[in-house]
Amino acid sequence: MTARIIDGNALSAKLRGELAAKAAELTARGTQPCLAVILVGGDPASAVYVRNKVAGCEKAGIKSLKFEYAQDASPADVLGRIAELNADPSVHGILVQLPLPKHFDEKAVLEAISVEKDVDGFHAENVGRLSQGQEAFVPCTPNGVMEMLKSIEAPLRGAEAVVIGRSNIVGKPMAMLLTAAGATVTVCHSGTRDLNFHTRRADILVAAIGKPKFVTGDMVRPGAIVIDVGINRLSSGPDAGKLCGDVDFESAKEVAGAITPVPGGVGPMTITMLLANTVESATRAAR
Ligand code: GUN
Repeated sequence: MTARIIDGNALSAKLRGELAAKAAELTARGTQPCLAVILVGGDPASAVYVRNKVAGCEKAGIKSLKFEYAQDASPADVLGRIAELNADPSVHGILVQLPLPKHFDEKAVLEAISVEKDVDGFHAENVGRLSQGQEAFVPCTPNGVMEMLKSIEAPLRGAEAVVIGRSNIVGKPMAMLLTAAGATVTVCHSGTRDLNFHTRRADILVAAIGKPKFVTGDMVRPGAIVIDVGINRLSSGPDAGKLCGDVDFESAKEVAGAITPVPGGVGPMTITMLLANTVESATRAAR
């Protein structure tokens, strides 16, 4: 039997429709949600992500402001821009696209963003709030994964969840969210001794490692829910240039109970949750 496909495009379309209605209502009351996006340098993948974020805003009736800086930009200029945006009451969300050039102190930049406008959920205070179960902006990719699990009514309480990857953007917040939902969570990473031992006992397996087709069908427990966070562009072989995830979809779908595709899985959900956080921030500002 092949797995149920969890369609991130369809779920995104439904949620974005609801967000557009909320944005229209806020706008009619005099508060149009507004997201400011800062892009430093010419990384082509980052440019595509930023373009998709801006386009997502436009379609949902959310205003977007885009600030682009050269690769050799001065950190002081970017920090000055963040200070201006923090002080501007018409701006509800501020996002600095990562990675930043090497001469930037990434942590200092993320901490400069006002906690109330940190729609990426990367500020240490939001991370701390999330870890303590307080209201916080939740990082968009893991938040999108939780929405996908909710959409298929995945049983989380008592489930064995295995997250591969321990990044600040995905792995760590993913583990916090699954723990809060009652799952027993194992975080695996490059130092994990017997990865297959862990993956094969997972009811929910989240792959966020950045290695194309790394998780193969033999690593998946029959019936498991497999969530593929990876977005990799294949550089060689017959599919060169195509996108693929961290999961070998073809072999994993024969074993899993449900699986997210790439493209069309977690990717669109990340932007949807960014729009949701921006609308939430504007809602708070309008109170
Ligand atoms: N780079 C990779 N993913 C993300 C993200 O979710 N937000 C930001 N700001 N940068 C990223």
